[in-house]
Amino acid sequence: MNEDFFHKPKGYFKQTPNLPDYETTYKNFSWEKAKEDELTWFEDGKINAAYNAIDRHLTTFRKNKIALYWEGDNNETEKYTFEEVSYLSNQYGNYFKSLGVDRSDRVFIFLPRIPPLYFSFLGILKIGAIAGTLFSAFQEQALFDRLENSSAKVLITNTELSQRVEKIRHKLPHLKHIIIVDEPEFSQNITKQSKDIHIARMDPDDYAFMLYTSGTTGKPKGVVHRHLAILSEHMTAKYVLDLHDEDTYWCTADPGWVTGIAYEILGSWSNGVTSLVFSGRFAAEKWYQLLQKYKISVWYTAPTAVRMLMAQGETLVKKHDLSSLRHLLSVGEPLNPEAIRWGLKAFGLPFHDTWWQTETGAISIANYPCMDVKIGSMGKPTPGVEAAIIDEEGNELPVGKEGNLALRKGWPSMMKTIWHRHVKYDSYFVKEWYISGDRAWKDKDGYFWFVGRADDVIKTSGERVGPFEVESALVEHPSVVEAGVIGKPDQLRGEIIKAFVVLKSGVKPTDELKEELSLFVKKHLAGHAYPREIEFIDKLPKTRSGKIMRRILKAKELGLPIGDTSTLEEF
Ligand code: WTA
Repeated sequence: MNEDFFHKPKGYFKQTPNLPDYETTYKNFSWEKAKEDELTWFEDGKINAAYNAIDRHLTTFRKNKIALYWEGDNNETEKYTFEEVSYLSNQYGNYFKSLGVDRSDRVFIFLPRIPPLYFSFLGILKIGAIAGTLFSAFQEQALFDRLENSSAKVLITNTELSQRVEKIRHKLPHLKHIIIVDEPEFSQNITKQSKDIHIARMDPDDYAFMLYTSGTTGKPKGVVHRHLAILSEHMTAKYVLDLHDEDTYWCTADPGWVTGIAYEILGSWSNGVTSLVFSGRFAAEKWYQLLQKYKISVWYTAPTAVRMLMAQGETLVKKHDLSSLRHLLSVGEPLNPEAIRWGLKAFGLPFHDTWWQTETGAISIANYPCMDVKIGSMGKPTPGVEAAIIDEEGNELPVGKEGNLALRKGWPSMMKTIWHRHVKYDSYFVKEWYISGDRAWKDKDGYFWFVGRADDVIKTSGERVGPFEVESALVEHPSVVEAGVIGKPDQLRGEIIKAFVVLKSGVKPTDELKEELSLFVKKHLAGHAYPREIEFIDKLPKTRSGKIMRRILKAKELGLPIGDTSTLEEF
């Protein structure tokens, strides 16, 4: 067992943590009490997550506080106070209403991280509609799958990205409006709207937003979250991110990913923190400049980014004054012990690992400021969340034993449904447990350790990619008969996508064709979901029922034992 601790030295804390004593709070925590103490309610038990994120601050000293610092790709900057974000999102909401958007309608946002993305998201929630987010790397196939499955009524995008939608629009009969935010007409329409709005009074269970995410089989599924999810997001932003009023906070995630919604919009703003959003691409020097310029104190990023920074060395870090930093965190993939040690050398601070999923809606297991970091462990469950390692039947396994990582049903940000797939939703639960699909174990001190996925889901640079989507995209190419796709371990990206491709007879297996196939997926599916490695193969290993056995492809790739092949057709 790894017992490598980072003990926080005297003088470590620049701020008293919001959660000074984990064990006591964990033991006494009550969601009912948190609901009362931490959220703002309308009459009759009604709520709105967007109101809690932004508008409730307008009656406090935070009214004129900066909510959003924005910096674009070409060093453009903008800033907005809580009051300005409130008014703008009201105007956006009123505009959507004027187009006929009703409660529960799906309104999707397909934009880079520019301010209209944030105003749109909040405006959609304010009128009781359901917001969906889409990565700007998506191409027509990925867009079509999501917009069709959700029957989205409105899409908010920009001129450049809208071209990808034009190609599929004729196949989307429910899509009534495409709003282009960089057209002058759009600004005119927004300016015309009232800055006041009647914020929709929602039941805590009413749907607020949805995100498509990948599993092993089938197309991506629409994970739907309710308005009350903000309670989990708020509490974890307070306890885990440890946000204080004095902080300037930077979450590097995109709202196309749940992290960008929970901790760049809802949970972080409901704590009243000033946030930075940077819409540009990753570049180590630029990132350090931003940390310095905005005097970032709390920084939430991903292991891939940390590894990329690490690859550029410490000298670059030392050229910047990063003395404002006080709390570093990461999410999305295992946080390597080397990355924690490097953080200590480069910033004098450890990265705190956090574990959660699109489905859990908020951080579920974490390392807390008040605790020493057990290096390599994901930490302990967040207050109000009970985590366990269980077997297939839902029985808890003893300390030290590997099994399925599960959470006891019922925390506020547990996904509410899978859009139009109730049976699939039910399949996530065994007895009173939500099954995460991750394998892990728990040590004698109650820390959880990540082992790997129980399924074939790929994590490349922190992005979750379903092999089936990539396989389907490859098969669309005229030279391909079939394809099997796996995640191959990679130093920098965690995993890269590798495809095993069976070609039509007579097609030559050339390097040019490999490149063409990679590009084909990049152009039709998504910029981040393409295979970086392709191998031509005569035949794919399959079960007798015809399912591709990716586990065998993976074992072969890694030179591991192939395991049980009794259900295999032939290989
Ligand atoms: C993986 C939303 C190891 C895991 C935030 C999980 C992690 C999946 C960690 C969810 C971590 C996330 N250590 N693995 N700290 N955090 N994962 O929904 O496999 O895109 O099930 O993430 O990412 O992916 P999602």
